[in-house]
Amino acid sequence: MEIQSNFSLKNYNTFGIEASAKQFIAVHSIAELKTVLEENKNEKKFILGGGSNMLLTKDIDALVIHIDLKGKKIIEENDDFVWVESQAGETWHDFVLYTIDHNFGGLENMSLIPGNVGTTPVQNIGAYGTEIKDTFVSCEAMNIVTQEMKTFNNAECNFGYRESIFKHEVKDQFIITSVIFKLTKRNHKINTSYGDILAELAKNNISEPALKDVSNAVIAIRQSKLPDPKELGNSGSFFKNPILLKSDFEKIHQKFPEMKYYEVSETEVKVPAGWLIEQAGFKGKRFGDAGVHKNQALVLVNYGNATGQEILAVSREVQKTVFETFGIHIEAEVNVI
Ligand code: EPU
Repeated sequence: MEIQSNFSLKNYNTFGIEASAKQFIAVHSIAELKTVLEENKNEKKFILGGGSNMLLTKDIDALVIHIDLKGKKIIEENDDFVWVESQAGETWHDFVLYTIDHNFGGLENMSLIPGNVGTTPVQNIGAYGTEIKDTFVSCEAMNIVTQEMKTFNNAECNFGYRESIFKHEVKDQFIITSVIFKLTKRNHKINTSYGDILAELAKNNISEPALKDVSNAVIAIRQSKLPDPKELGNSGSFFKNPILLKSDFEKIHQKFPEMKYYEVSETEVKVPAGWLIEQAGFKGKRFGDAGVHKNQALVLVNYGNATGQEILAVSREVQKTVFETFGIHIEAEVNVI
Protein backbone atom coordinates (compact mmCIF):
# COMPACT_ATOMS: atom_id res chain seq x y z
CA MET A 1 0.00 0.00 0.00
CA GLU A 2 1.71 3.10 -1.23
CA ILE A 3 0.58 6.65 -1.92
CA GLN A 4 1.50 7.86 -5.41
CA SER A 5 1.73 11.50 -6.47
CA ASN A 6 0.49 13.17 -9.68
CA PHE A 7 -1.30 10.00 -10.67
CA SER A 8 -3.15 9.84 -14.02
CA LEU A 9 -6.84 8.94 -13.65
CA LYS A 10 -7.36 8.24 -17.37
CA ASN A 11 -7.77 4.50 -16.76
CA TYR A 12 -9.94 5.07 -13.69
CA ASN A 13 -12.86 6.90 -15.31
CA THR A 14 -15.01 5.34 -18.03
CA PHE A 15 -15.15 8.64 -19.95
CA GLY A 16 -11.39 8.15 -20.45
CA ILE A 17 -10.66 11.76 -19.50
CA GLU A 18 -7.06 12.72 -18.81
CA ALA A 19 -6.92 14.27 -15.33
CA SER A 20 -4.54 13.71 -12.46
CA ALA A 21 -4.86 13.15 -8.75
CA LYS A 22 -2.55 15.06 -6.40
CA GLN A 23 -2.20 11.76 -4.53
CA PHE A 24 -3.62 8.30 -5.17
CA ILE A 25 -3.88 5.06 -3.25
CA ALA A 26 -5.78 1.82 -3.87
CA VAL A 27 -7.01 -0.02 -0.77
CA HIS A 28 -7.66 -3.76 -0.73
CA SER A 29 -9.01 -4.38 2.77
CA ILE A 30 -11.06 -2.68 5.46
CA ALA A 31 -7.93 -2.53 7.63
CA GLU A 32 -6.01 -0.72 4.87
CA LEU A 33 -8.86 1.71 4.37
CA LYS A 34 -8.96 2.46 8.10
CA THR A 35 -5.21 3.05 8.22
CA VAL A 36 -5.23 5.39 5.21
CA LEU A 37 -8.05 7.45 6.69
CA GLU A 38 -6.37 7.59 10.12
CA GLU A 39 -2.99 8.55 8.73
CA ASN A 40 -4.38 11.25 6.43
CA LYS A 41 -6.89 12.89 8.73
CA ASN A 42 -6.09 16.39 7.54
CA GLU A 43 -5.84 15.67 3.82
CA LYS A 44 -8.73 16.43 1.49
CA LYS A 45 -10.05 13.09 0.29
CA PHE A 46 -11.87 11.88 -2.81
CA ILE A 47 -13.38 8.39 -2.88
CA LEU A 48 -13.22 6.56 -6.20
CA GLY A 49 -15.14 3.40 -7.05
CA GLY A 50 -15.43 2.23 -10.65
CA GLY A 51 -15.31 5.77 -12.07
CA SER A 52 -18.34 5.03 -14.23
CA ASN A 53 -20.60 7.83 -13.12
CA MET A 54 -18.41 10.90 -13.11
CA LEU A 55 -17.06 13.54 -15.43
CA LEU A 56 -13.65 14.89 -14.46
CA THR A 57 -13.45 18.53 -15.51
CA LYS A 58 -10.24 19.27 -13.60
CA ASP A 59 -7.35 17.65 -11.77
CA ILE A 60 -8.23 16.41 -8.30
CA ASP A 61 -6.42 18.35 -5.61
CA ALA A 62 -6.89 15.65 -2.98
CA LEU A 63 -5.89 12.18 -1.87
CA VAL A 64 -7.88 9.87 -4.17
CA ILE A 65 -8.74 6.61 -2.40
CA HIS A 66 -9.65 3.86 -4.85
CA ILE A 67 -11.85 1.23 -3.20
CA ASP A 68 -10.57 -2.13 -4.43
CA LEU A 69 -12.17 -4.48 -1.89
CA LYS A 70 -12.87 -7.86 -3.51
CA GLY A 71 -14.92 -10.91 -2.56
CA LYS A 72 -18.44 -12.27 -2.63
CA LYS A 73 -20.17 -14.90 -0.55
CA ILE A 74 -23.47 -16.42 0.44
CA ILE A 75 -24.24 -15.39 3.99
CA GLU A 76 -27.61 -17.04 4.52
CA GLU A 77 -30.14 -19.10 2.60
CA ASN A 78 -33.37 -21.02 2.85
CA ASP A 79 -35.36 -22.97 0.27
CA ASP A 80 -36.62 -19.81 -1.45
CA PHE A 81 -34.07 -17.07 -0.93
CA VAL A 82 -30.37 -16.46 -0.66
CA TRP A 83 -28.58 -13.49 0.90
CA VAL A 84 -25.42 -12.71 -1.06
CA GLU A 85 -22.79 -10.24 0.05
CA SER A 86 -20.38 -8.54 -2.33
CA GLN A 87 -17.45 -6.34 -1.41
CA ALA A 88 -17.59 -2.83 -2.86
CA GLY A 89 -14.77 -3.22 -5.40
CA GLU A 90 -16.30 -6.13 -7.33
CA THR A 91 -17.23 -5.23 -10.90
CA TRP A 92 -21.03 -5.00 -11.00
CA HIS A 93 -21.51 -7.04 -14.17
CA ASP A 94 -19.19 -9.83 -12.95
CA PHE A 95 -21.25 -9.98 -9.77
CA VAL A 96 -24.50 -10.16 -11.78
CA LEU A 97 -23.07 -13.02 -13.88
CA TYR A 98 -22.00 -14.85 -10.69
CA THR A 99 -25.60 -14.65 -9.37
CA ILE A 100 -27.00 -15.88 -12.68
CA ASP A 101 -24.50 -18.77 -12.84
CA HIS A 102 -25.81 -19.85 -9.42
CA ASN A 103 -29.42 -19.43 -10.62
CA PHE A 104 -30.09 -16.61 -8.13
CA GLY A 105 -32.76 -14.25 -9.45
CA GLY A 106 -33.23 -10.50 -9.13
CA LEU A 107 -30.32 -8.76 -10.80
CA GLU A 108 -30.60 -10.12 -14.36
CA ASN A 109 -32.27 -6.99 -15.79
CA MET A 110 -29.30 -4.95 -14.61
CA SER A 111 -26.72 -6.95 -16.58
CA LEU A 112 -23.85 -5.03 -18.17
CA ILE A 113 -24.30 -1.79 -16.21
CA PRO A 114 -20.78 -0.39 -15.85
CA GLY A 115 -19.29 0.33 -12.42
CA ASN A 116 -18.58 -1.41 -9.13
CA VAL A 117 -20.95 -2.95 -6.60
CA GLY A 118 -20.10 -0.38 -3.92
CA THR A 119 -21.44 2.55 -5.87
CA THR A 120 -24.72 0.93 -6.93
CA PRO A 121 -26.65 2.10 -3.83
CA VAL A 122 -25.47 5.71 -4.24
CA GLN A 123 -27.61 6.28 -7.30
CA ASN A 124 -29.90 3.26 -6.94
CA ILE A 125 -28.89 1.97 -10.36
CA GLY A 126 -31.61 0.53 -12.52
CA ALA A 127 -32.52 -0.71 -15.96
CA TYR A 128 -35.38 -2.43 -17.80
CA GLY A 129 -37.94 -2.20 -15.04
CA THR A 130 -35.75 -3.06 -12.04
CA GLU A 131 -33.68 -1.04 -9.59
CA ILE A 132 -31.28 -2.30 -6.95
CA LYS A 133 -33.65 -1.12 -4.24
CA ASP A 134 -35.85 -4.12 -5.20
CA THR A 135 -33.26 -6.65 -3.95
CA PHE A 136 -30.98 -4.53 -1.74
CA VAL A 137 -31.00 -5.61 1.93
CA SER A 138 -28.28 -3.45 3.47
CA CYS A 139 -24.79 -2.08 3.03
CA GLU A 140 -21.85 -1.59 5.35
CA ALA A 141 -20.14 1.77 5.26
CA MET A 142 -17.17 3.37 7.00
CA ASN A 143 -17.48 6.83 8.46
CA ILE A 144 -14.67 8.85 6.85
CA VAL A 145 -14.01 10.93 9.98
CA THR A 146 -14.39 8.36 12.78
CA GLN A 147 -13.67 5.13 10.82
CA GLU A 148 -16.65 3.54 12.55
CA MET A 149 -18.67 1.03 10.54
CA LYS A 150 -22.40 1.58 10.09
CA THR A 151 -25.08 -0.58 8.50
CA PHE A 152 -27.69 1.11 6.32
CA ASN A 153 -30.79 -0.99 5.68
CA ASN A 154 -33.04 -0.54 2.66
CA ALA A 155 -35.43 1.94 4.29
CA GLU A 156 -32.57 4.00 5.71
CA CYS A 157 -31.11 4.48 2.22
CA ASN A 158 -34.15 6.55 1.12
CA PHE A 159 -33.97 5.15 -2.39
CA GLY A 160 -35.67 7.03 -5.22
CA TYR A 161 -35.18 7.27 -9.00
CA ARG A 162 -31.35 7.47 -9.24
CA GLU A 163 -31.39 8.83 -5.68
CA SER A 164 -30.38 7.79 -2.15
CA ILE A 165 -29.31 9.16 1.22
CA PHE A 166 -25.69 8.93 -0.02
CA LYS A 167 -26.35 11.76 -2.49
CA HIS A 168 -28.02 13.94 0.14
CA GLU A 169 -28.11 13.69 3.95
CA VAL A 170 -24.85 11.73 4.36
CA LYS A 171 -23.13 12.87 1.14
CA ASP A 172 -19.30 12.53 1.36
CA GLN A 173 -19.51 11.15 4.91
CA PHE A 174 -19.33 7.38 4.31
CA ILE A 175 -17.48 4.88 2.16
CA ILE A 176 -19.62 1.88 1.23
CA THR A 177 -17.53 -1.25 1.75
CA SER A 178 -19.99 -4.09 1.00
CA VAL A 179 -23.58 -4.69 -0.04
CA ILE A 180 -26.04 -7.54 0.68
CA PHE A 181 -28.76 -8.53 -1.79
CA LYS A 182 -31.69 -10.90 -1.20
CA LEU A 183 -32.19 -13.01 -4.32
CA THR A 184 -34.61 -15.76 -5.28
CA LYS A 185 -33.57 -19.42 -5.54
CA ARG A 186 -36.84 -20.53 -7.14
CA ASN A 187 -40.11 -18.93 -8.32
CA HIS A 188 -38.03 -16.20 -9.90
CA LYS A 189 -39.91 -13.00 -10.67
CA ILE A 190 -38.92 -12.72 -14.31
CA ASN A 191 -39.59 -9.13 -15.39
CA THR A 192 -40.00 -8.76 -19.12
CA SER A 193 -42.41 -5.82 -18.88
CA TYR A 194 -40.00 -3.66 -20.83
CA GLY A 195 -40.93 -3.90 -24.51
CA ASP A 196 -37.36 -4.16 -25.75
CA ILE A 197 -36.77 -7.31 -23.68
CA LEU A 198 -39.89 -9.04 -24.98
CA ALA A 199 -38.92 -8.18 -28.55
CA GLU A 200 -35.39 -9.52 -28.05
CA LEU A 201 -36.68 -12.78 -26.52
CA ALA A 202 -39.24 -13.19 -29.31
CA LYS A 203 -36.48 -12.75 -31.88
CA ASN A 204 -34.80 -15.80 -30.33
CA ASN A 205 -38.09 -17.74 -30.02
CA ILE A 206 -37.94 -17.78 -26.22
CA SER A 207 -41.36 -17.74 -24.58
CA GLU A 208 -40.45 -18.96 -21.08
CA PRO A 209 -37.16 -17.25 -20.35
CA ALA A 210 -34.72 -18.41 -17.69
CA LEU A 211 -32.60 -15.87 -15.78
CA LYS A 212 -29.77 -16.36 -18.26
CA ASP A 213 -32.10 -15.66 -21.22
CA VAL A 214 -33.20 -12.35 -19.69
CA SER A 215 -29.61 -11.42 -18.94
CA ASN A 216 -28.57 -12.27 -22.50
CA ALA A 217 -31.47 -10.21 -23.90
CA VAL A 218 -30.47 -7.20 -21.76
CA ILE A 219 -26.85 -7.59 -22.83
CA ALA A 220 -27.88 -7.67 -26.52
CA ILE A 221 -30.09 -4.57 -26.15
CA ARG A 222 -27.45 -2.62 -24.25
CA GLN A 223 -24.76 -3.58 -26.77
CA SER A 224 -26.95 -2.36 -29.64
CA LYS A 225 -27.73 1.02 -28.04
CA LEU A 226 -25.06 1.86 -25.53
CA PRO A 227 -21.37 2.29 -26.34
CA ASP A 228 -18.83 0.04 -24.59
CA PRO A 229 -16.65 2.35 -22.45
CA LYS A 230 -13.60 0.26 -23.46
CA GLU A 231 -14.16 1.33 -27.06
CA LEU A 232 -15.75 4.77 -26.68
CA GLY A 233 -15.46 6.76 -23.47
CA ASN A 234 -18.82 7.41 -21.81
CA SER A 235 -20.65 7.34 -18.52
CA GLY A 236 -23.97 5.76 -19.49
CA SER A 237 -26.96 8.08 -19.30
CA PHE A 238 -25.54 11.55 -18.80
CA PHE A 239 -28.93 13.02 -17.85
CA LYS A 240 -31.85 11.84 -15.74
CA ASN A 241 -35.25 11.45 -17.34
CA PRO A 242 -37.13 14.53 -16.08
CA ILE A 243 -40.15 14.04 -13.85
CA LEU A 244 -42.89 16.63 -14.37
CA LEU A 245 -46.11 17.47 -12.60
CA LYS A 246 -48.99 16.19 -14.73
CA SER A 247 -50.48 19.68 -14.85
CA ASP A 248 -47.24 21.14 -16.29
CA PHE A 249 -46.76 18.18 -18.61
CA GLU A 250 -50.25 18.50 -20.08
CA LYS A 251 -49.59 22.05 -21.26
CA ILE A 252 -46.33 20.97 -22.94
CA HIS A 253 -47.95 17.84 -24.39
CA GLN A 254 -50.60 19.94 -26.11
CA LYS A 255 -47.85 21.69 -28.03
CA PHE A 256 -45.91 18.45 -28.68
CA PRO A 257 -48.50 15.64 -28.87
CA GLU A 258 -45.91 13.15 -30.12
CA MET A 259 -43.87 13.50 -26.88
CA LYS A 260 -43.31 10.13 -25.16
CA TYR A 261 -44.05 9.82 -21.43
CA TYR A 262 -44.64 7.30 -18.63
CA GLU A 263 -46.84 7.77 -15.57
CA VAL A 264 -44.83 7.51 -12.36
CA SER A 265 -47.55 8.47 -9.87
CA GLU A 266 -51.02 9.97 -9.82
CA THR A 267 -49.56 13.44 -10.11
CA GLU A 268 -46.31 12.93 -12.02
CA VAL A 269 -45.03 11.74 -15.39
CA LYS A 270 -41.53 10.91 -16.60
CA VAL A 271 -40.40 12.05 -20.03
CA PRO A 272 -37.51 10.26 -21.80
CA ALA A 273 -34.67 12.76 -22.01
CA GLY A 274 -33.21 10.75 -24.92
CA TRP A 275 -36.29 11.61 -26.96
CA LEU A 276 -36.10 15.33 -26.06
CA ILE A 277 -32.40 15.46 -26.97
CA GLU A 278 -32.97 13.64 -30.24
CA GLN A 279 -35.84 15.98 -31.18
CA ALA A 280 -33.64 18.95 -30.29
CA GLY A 281 -31.31 17.75 -33.04
CA PHE A 282 -28.33 16.48 -31.05
CA LYS A 283 -28.38 12.74 -31.65
CA GLY A 284 -25.07 11.68 -33.23
CA LYS A 285 -23.71 15.24 -33.25
CA ARG A 286 -19.99 15.63 -32.73
CA PHE A 287 -18.12 18.70 -31.47
CA GLY A 288 -14.41 17.96 -31.81
CA ASP A 289 -13.79 14.85 -29.70
CA ALA A 290 -16.95 15.32 -27.59
CA GLY A 291 -20.37 14.27 -28.80
CA VAL A 292 -23.83 12.80 -28.37
CA HIS A 293 -24.04 9.07 -29.07
CA LYS A 294 -25.59 8.05 -32.40
CA ASN A 295 -27.80 5.26 -30.99
CA GLN A 296 -28.87 6.75 -27.64
CA ALA A 297 -29.04 10.52 -27.27
CA LEU A 298 -28.92 10.31 -23.46
CA VAL A 299 -25.28 9.26 -23.63
CA LEU A 300 -22.43 11.72 -24.16
CA VAL A 301 -19.21 10.28 -25.57
CA ASN A 302 -15.49 10.98 -25.71
CA TYR A 303 -14.13 10.11 -29.18
CA GLY A 304 -10.55 10.15 -27.90
CA ASN A 305 -9.03 13.23 -26.43
CA ALA A 306 -11.99 15.32 -25.27
CA THR A 307 -11.43 17.19 -22.04
CA GLY A 308 -13.99 17.12 -19.26
CA GLN A 309 -14.65 20.80 -19.93
CA GLU A 310 -15.49 20.03 -23.57
CA ILE A 311 -17.96 17.30 -22.59
CA LEU A 312 -19.44 19.66 -19.99
CA ALA A 313 -19.85 22.36 -22.65
CA VAL A 314 -21.77 19.90 -24.88
CA SER A 315 -23.98 18.93 -21.94
CA ARG A 316 -24.80 22.60 -21.25
CA GLU A 317 -25.59 23.22 -24.92
CA VAL A 318 -27.92 20.20 -24.90
CA GLN A 319 -29.64 21.39 -21.69
CA LYS A 320 -30.04 24.91 -23.09
CA THR A 321 -31.54 23.79 -26.41
CA VAL A 322 -33.87 21.26 -24.79
CA PHE A 323 -35.08 24.00 -22.43
CA GLU A 324 -35.55 26.50 -25.27
CA THR A 325 -37.40 23.90 -27.36
CA PHE A 326 -39.65 22.26 -24.77
CA GLY A 327 -39.40 24.37 -21.60
CA ILE A 328 -38.12 21.27 -19.76
CA HIS A 329 -34.95 21.32 -17.68
CA ILE A 330 -32.91 18.11 -17.84
CA GLU A 331 -30.57 17.47 -14.96
CA ALA A 332 -27.20 15.68 -15.16
CA GLU A 333 -27.19 12.19 -13.67
CA VAL A 334 -23.42 11.96 -13.80
CA ASN A 335 -21.40 13.63 -11.02
CA VAL A 336 -19.53 16.56 -12.50
CA ILE A 337 -16.23 16.95 -10.62
N1 EPU B 1 -35.42 7.63 -27.08
C1 EPU B 1 -35.35 8.39 -28.21
N2 EPU B 1 -34.13 8.76 -28.69
C2 EPU B 1 -32.98 8.38 -28.08
C3 EPU B 1 -33.05 7.61 -26.91
C4 EPU B 1 -34.29 7.23 -26.42
O1 EPU B 1 -36.37 8.75 -28.78
O2 EPU B 1 -31.92 8.73 -28.59
C5 EPU B 1 -36.73 7.16 -26.60
C6 EPU B 1 -36.89 5.68 -26.92
O3 EPU B 1 -37.44 5.47 -28.16
C7 EPU B 1 -37.80 5.20 -25.82
C8 EPU B 1 -37.49 6.10 -24.67
O4 EPU B 1 -36.79 7.23 -25.20
O5 EPU B 1 -39.14 5.39 -26.17
C9 EPU B 1 -36.69 5.40 -23.62
O6 EPU B 1 -35.45 4.97 -24.16
P1 EPU B 1 -34.60 3.76 -23.52
O7 EPU B 1 -35.44 2.56 -23.42
O8 EPU B 1 -33.33 3.64 -24.27
O9 EPU B 1 -34.34 4.20 -22.03
P2 EPU B 1 -33.92 5.61 -21.40
O10 EPU B 1 -35.09 6.14 -20.63
O11 EPU B 1 -33.32 6.47 -22.42
C10 EPU B 1 -33.22 4.58 -19.08
C11 EPU B 1 -32.03 4.58 -18.15
C12 EPU B 1 -30.92 3.67 -18.68
C13 EPU B 1 -31.49 2.26 -18.80
C14 EPU B 1 -32.73 2.30 -19.73
C15 EPU B 1 -33.43 0.98 -19.81
C16 EPU B 1 -32.05 6.77 -17.07
C17 EPU B 1 -31.40 8.09 -16.93
N3 EPU B 1 -31.53 5.92 -17.98
O12 EPU B 1 -32.80 5.14 -20.32
O13 EPU B 1 -29.89 3.66 -17.71
O14 EPU B 1 -30.52 1.36 -19.30
O15 EPU B 1 -33.70 3.26 -19.24
O16 EPU B 1 -34.11 0.74 -18.63
O17 EPU B 1 -33.03 6.49 -16.36
C18 EPU B 1 -27.84 4.69 -17.06
O18 EPU B 1 -28.44 5.08 -16.05
O19 EPU B 1 -26.63 4.95 -17.27
C19 EPU B 1 -28.59 3.94 -18.07
C20 EPU B 1 -28.03 3.58 -19.22
